[in-house]
Amino acid sequence: MNVTQQEIKEQAEIALSLRALFAGKKGMVRTFGCQQNEADGERILGELADCGLTPTEELSEADVVILNTCAIREHAEQRVLGIIGSMKKEKEKRPDMLIGMCGCMAQERHRQDLLMQSYPFVDFLFGTDRHHRVPEILREALRSRKQRQFVTDLPHNEFGVISEGTPVYRDSDYKAKVSVMYGCNNFCSYCIVPYVRGHERSRASAQVLEEVGSLVQAGYKDIMLLGQNVNSYRGDVDFPTLLEKCASFEGDYWVRFMTSHPKDASPALVRVMAEQPKVAKHFHLPFQSGNDRILSAMNRKYNREQYLEKALAIKEQVKDVSLTSDVIVGFPTETEKEFLDTVELVKQVGFDMLYTFIYSPRKGTVAEKMEGRIPHEEQVRRFSYLSDVQNEIAQKNNDAFLGKVLTVLSEGVNEKGIPTGRSSGNKIVTFDAPVLQGTFCKVKIDTARQYALSGIVKD
Ligand code: SAH
Ligand code: SF4
Ligand code: F3S
Repeated sequence: MNVTQQEIKEQAEIALSLRALFAGKKGMVRTFGCQQNEADGERILGELADCGLTPTEELSEADVVILNTCAIREHAEQRVLGIIGSMKKEKEKRPDMLIGMCGCMAQERHRQDLLMQSYPFVDFLFGTDRHHRVPEILREALRSRKQRQFVTDLPHNEFGVISEGTPVYRDSDYKAKVSVMYGCNNFCSYCIVPYVRGHERSRASAQVLEEVGSLVQAGYKDIMLLGQNVNSYRGDVDFPTLLEKCASFEGDYWVRFMTSHPKDASPALVRVMAEQPKVAKHFHLPFQSGNDRILSAMNRKYNREQYLEKALAIKEQVKDVSLTSDVIVGFPTETEKEFLDTVELVKQVGFDMLYTFIYSPRKGTVAEKMEGRIPHEEQVRRFSYLSDVQNEIAQKNNDAFLGKVLTVLSEGVNEKGIPTGRSSGNKIVTFDAPVLQGTFCKVKIDTARQYALSGIVKD
């Protein structure tokens, strides 16, 4: 399960042997889906760079393209399929280019052969337990020039690895993603993740701290600890301890984490957030439904009351916290009344931001076989009803920031040329005068919109 250092070394050697071949050529990774997948994408790009390929974001100049896919909902898969389709023309123009697929969709057993057959111009596909073997995969793809699949089909409790020391090419020089645990053991009945990411496994705390420490030293200002259920981290220490240590390096920076599972949102974790100044005040705590029967059908392992208690404790104990969540509407058999329980919970908690998803059946999951699917129009109605409720709450929450001074990490300017950044609560804040990207500033808020604040920079 832990990739050996010998294996990592072998990959580095293969990478070295490919450098002459790839001299002057370019590599690209296009990532879909969650931040974990983005973190994987940065590693894959790091390996391409190690093989001598110069990173690029332009498809038209890429000699090696890897699509790092997501399978969370039908829509995510459709987006990927659309993009692969558009690669065909590129390959016709430049038959020497290599196209690969990886990520969660490539790991879906029922997809693998089908993808290869439907897209004969895709050269190779590899699973989520092969991310650290990109050099070898490229070498094999170059050798045979036949379609190749690099996948395993292991039972859940054996599937998945931890690899330390693979190269990484970070896409920002002030914000960094650090995976601390991988996989999921929860098997929520609607979700594909456990099947494509394997069992939960945690990195040793020393490795995490070494990575975070060197990022802080290199000037990173926003470090995000990642895991499918980041707070279920079970290394040699528990998650609150790990977080506290990550927030204890010398320097001016924030450390945040994503995504927490309510069952492991402990009082200790809330305390660390409340007490540690370097822990960003943002808690993302998905609730999925406000109704106990649906929560149980979803296999979420908590009920409405337990969720409420935790969410309200966070709001009470962490000053100026931003509390955000995920919810699914139109789960099979969800009645109008059960949906209204969700609406009620949203009102009761008052989230700063809510990611609302329409239930999407995923092949191989328990919910896929459930009867009582909700018609799409009804799902859409619930979606927009809830969105309207949430928008009003978001506006109200943001109005409370009027006149306050927030610390903001500048992200330079947005696409309209307006100086922009993020608060500790991860809110978008725009301001009047440019501030060097990747540095902190103070902004006095004078305008509040639903999902953004703006104001004046104070010296
Ligand atoms: N591990 C995290 C989130 C993983 S996926 C957690 O447990 O909260 C991100 C979000 O996608 C989930 O929180 C859920 O709201 C949504 N999601 C997952 N599977 C889905 C499906 N089949 N249909 C609709 N939304 C889904
Ligand atoms: Fe999916 Fe549930 Fe695991 Fe989150 S906890 S990744 S929703 S199975
Ligand atoms: Fe998508 Fe896989 Fe993430 S399914 S949301 S990329 S873990």
